[in-house]
Amino acid sequence: MTTETAPANESNGDSESAEDRVRIFDTTLRDGEQAPGFSMDRRTKLCMAQALETLGVDILEAGFPQASPDDFAAVEEIARTLHHTTVCALARCQTGDIDTAARALERARQSRIHLFLSTSPLHREHKLGMSKQQVLETAVASIERARKYCADVEFSAEDALRTEPDFLAEVFSAAIAAGATTLNAPDTVGYTTPAEMVELFTYLRRHVRDAHKAVFSAHCHDDLGMAVANSLAAVSAGARQVECTINGIGERAGNAALEEIVMALKVRAPHFGLSTGIDTRKLYPTSRLLTQLTGQAVPRNKAVVGENAFAHESGIHQHGMLKHRSTYEIMRPQDVGIAETTLVLGKHSGRHALRQRLEALGHHVDDHAMDGIFKRFKALADRKREIRDEDLEALAIGQDPDATGPWHLTQLNTSSHLGSSASATVKLSHEDGHEVGEAAIGDGPVDAVLRAIERATGTDMELTGFQVRAISEGGDAQGHAQLTARHAQRDWNGSSVSTDIIEATAHAALAIVNRIERQGEHHAAQAMKSQGVAP
Ligand code: KIV
Ligand code: ZN
Repeated sequence: MTTETAPANESNGDSESAEDRVRIFDTTLRDGEQAPGFSMDRRTKLCMAQALETLGVDILEAGFPQASPDDFAAVEEIARTLHHTTVCALARCQTGDIDTAARALERARQSRIHLFLSTSPLHREHKLGMSKQQVLETAVASIERARKYCADVEFSAEDALRTEPDFLAEVFSAAIAAGATTLNAPDTVGYTTPAEMVELFTYLRRHVRDAHKAVFSAHCHDDLGMAVANSLAAVSAGARQVECTINGIGERAGNAALEEIVMALKVRAPHFGLSTGIDTRKLYPTSRLLTQLTGQAVPRNKAVVGENAFAHESGIHQHGMLKHRSTYEIMRPQDVGIAETTLVLGKHSGRHALRQRLEALGHHVDDHAMDGIFKRFKALADRKREIRDEDLEALAIGQDPDATGPWHLTQLNTSSHLGSSASATVKLSHEDGHEVGEAAIGDGPVDAVLRAIERATGTDMELTGFQVRAISEGGDAQGHAQLTARHAQRDWNGSSVSTDIIEATAHAALAIVNRIERQGEHHAAQAMKSQGVAP
């Protein structure tokens, strides 16, 4: 963890950046992950964090350590693993939160504590029950405490855009005096317009004392579809950090989409005169990785990374494109990492070609994981004529060791008849050596398989989410099954990929059972340890 003290503009050693460089603060793993349907386990978060570092984000908000032990562990692991990206942890302006965030960041090479406290009259009265003076004093005390742990402290005035501008300037002035190095003005409820954004940031930069000692930041939500426009407006009025997420995921309608902000700054460089540290050729692979890991696809027409973003359907457009690309294209697919030619891999391809392709798709695999992936690649290549990028992504996701053991599926049969219920039989083996077979009927083959697995493993699961998607094309396409189930008052996710969707569903259900069982073993071991029963 960084402990030396320095003003924000100098601490990164990029003096040129203060004026011309916009810092990209990625919050995919915190604000993004908070949104329903996007929760990620620790391993998934680490995989995403590594891809974000390769993408070149400046600051990566890894989570909210005080929120849960899982969040703490994820932040700690990401902090330990990343090499040069600043790893950030969120904390309320409370002693416990700050101390926990600092502990989670202890092993980081570069770290930041991100404090937030509401400042708007609505939040002061109804959420906090605090006066202006109390808000001010709490913010100052918290920043001072965080600065004892970390030289890089960000303060966010939650609901800033509905806060009285003079009070906001007063809080920010006090925050700088207390040691904050980044000041974030979030549009927490996505209420603002670009013109208002320009007005506020211009005002703040004029009225905050010692404004030059901190970096101003925007954090915009997309409730009215203006998050990206508002972020860019803030930048044009002097903000030099934007907080955003891959594919724009986030609370409610989401956060500002990282890929859109970055490409707007790049494509319209003559207009903005600003740069970022993002390797834009990694945008598409990173976006794809997120959709694969969460099972949530982006709309076809999504800017920059949607399937249609570079597709030209109408004859007039195609004709123009063939004559001169820039008639209808403002950026090239390669600029965002969409390969124009897809290298086809098949059963004769080697390990080297496979690794290269996986890396190009944003998957960084170590040698050990590569052994398993290569084996599964060869098995798939025996079944499929042509292995496409989507297949490879599926294989790479399947590398998650969480998806295997202690239970393994050894046999699966299902039958269904039009107008009547379906039945399934499963045979499972457990790593302790015993085997179990069960049969069940259900409202369809998926239901029957789930019931049979529940019975065989003795695990109660209430299915709360189920999605199957084809992730490649053709009759031998792979299906991605993603399940969410409730067990012991908690949601558990499992996903798997197979050319047979029922088989993919069974593996996804088993991945959930395995997580539940491993977690139980882990807790039992911890309990024994705390009682002095185990070493
Ligand atoms: O939207 C918001 O206000 C936030 C803060 C925690 C920065 O996410
Ligand atoms: Zn937010």
